[in-house]
Amino acid sequence: IKFQPKVALILGSGLGDYAETMQVEETMEYTEIEGFPVSTVAGHKGRFLFGYVEGVPVVAMQGRVHFYEGYPMQDVVLPVRLMGMLGAKIVMLTNAAGGVNFDFHPGDLMLITDQITTAVPSPLIGPNIEELGVRFPDMSEAYSKELIRKADEIAEEKASKVQHGVYIGTQGPTFETPAEYKMFRIWGADAVGMSTVPEVIVANHCGIKCFGISVITDLGVEGKIVEVSHEEVQKAADAVQPLMAEIM
Ligand code: HPA
Repeated sequence: IKFQPKVALILGSGLGDYAETMQVEETMEYTEIEGFPVSTVAGHKGRFLFGYVEGVPVVAMQGRVHFYEGYPMQDVVLPVRLMGMLGAKIVMLTNAAGGVNFDFHPGDLMLITDQITTAVPSPLIGPNIEELGVRFPDMSEAYSKELIRKADEIAEEKASKVQHGVYIGTQGPTFETPAEYKMFRIWGADAVGMSTVPEVIVANHCGIKCFGISVITDLGVEGKIVEVSHEEVQKAADAVQPLMAEIM
């Protein structure tokens, strides 16, 4: 493809509409790429969009695969490595997540300040790919502080409140039991979801800066836990897309 992106976007559950704001030059279905992992989940399309957002060359993934779909971790993170090889220096990830912070509400946006990997296997297990990065990558600033500061400035300009917090990635596909939500809060998480963490590990491994936003679609907080379904998660994510688009 004759297109060199500077920024890569990964659009999560119910959040693919952001792509409508792009000036799209070219699209490519994942199925056109031999061996490329294709999502089996409703609400996840499966294609790359190449185009511009306010003049910045961007590659966007509408849809991604998750570990719970049965793909090996190496396949889950392959797209991030690919977009890095195409030239992306920044990856921006969006996801839907359950809030475990007592101060969160459904519909909140959370800028991800850090992450916890403990609940999923690392995608870097196995022989290190030296061309990509070092054996023991630093994770002291997994999410770029500079990008978070810029997002804060934009949210302030728009008089929109955003939360900040730590995202913990799980294997899924179950939502959490009340005991698990509580454990994750005690561990130091503010939100929990089934994606993002592996991608951010490989991005840090190969020197791509990360920025992440979670849409808090439901709460894992004692007294506020209700039955969660994928459809409700998608609907809740859908509702905050305009604010998320402004920040992105
Ligand atoms: N848990 C895990 N993943 C999620 C949740 C949740 O409560 N909500 C949206 N994605």
